[in-house]
Amino acid sequence: MEKINEQIREERVMEQNLQLLTQDTFQMKSRCAIRLLTAKLKIADAELALKLGRNVILNIYSRIKSLDSIRDKCKKKGITADYAQVIEEINDIIGIRAVCAFEDDIYRLLDVLSSHRDLRILKKKDYIRNPKSSGYRSFHLIVEVPVYFQEEVCWIRAEIQLRTTAMDFWAGVDHELRYKKGRNEAVLIGEELKEYSQVVAKLDQKMVELRRRIEEI
Ligand code: GTP
Ligand code: MG
Repeated sequence: MEKINEQIREERVMEQNLQLLTQDTFQMKSRCAIRLLTAKLKIADAELALKLGRNVILNIYSRIKSLDSIRDKCKKKGITADYAQVIEEINDIIGIRAVCAFEDDIYRLLDVLSSHRDLRILKKKDYIRNPKSSGYRSFHLIVEVPVYFQEEVCWIRAEIQLRTTAMDFWAGVDHELRYKKGRNEAVLIGEELKEYSQVVAKLDQKMVELRRRIEEI
């Protein structure tokens, strides 16, 4: 009985913590961080366009994680503590995705972003050179950007995903087919999806080769 009460108490505290994330201040800071990061990506694209004579980013997407998804992730990660811990341990409450045509441009973009001194890069995960066991490929950055608010600077954390259109296509289909189905179906199609991820990787490579051949003409 005592254990159940404790669990109920814990869940109530967690719920109060999560509600903090829907507060105006948090939402506003998140939207500011998205604007800053989107601007940074666009400026990096402009800088590269000047050098290469072509744009490297085709599309930029962004989202703030829904409260339901945050709740699910807290459960998955066993977070029951406070608001600060949620913010500290969930890196992708704010997510930005830049989609490029060519794989090598992702590394160019990365070089430019790495030179921005007002961008703290906490983690780099190269799932392009080291795909996940699912076959998933993309370059991930966990970053923090400074948002000035009420005379204070607050470093807001976000996840940046850099990928090609082909990687984006694969991830979209994978998400659609796997995450949404039950476990048995997931295992069934997992191997096949992984195989197609290699086909997509090959295609990315071919497209870079093709562009380089054209550039030499
Ligand atoms: P979560 O996976 O988000 O719990 O955190 P993590 O620390 O494991 O980060 P990771 O870099 O593994 O994944 C972060 C994000 O990448 C996910 O939220 C998805 O958007 C994407 N992702 C990772 N693995 C896969 C995958 O196998 N398939 C698809 N479609 N997306 C994936
Ligand atoms: Mg993961």
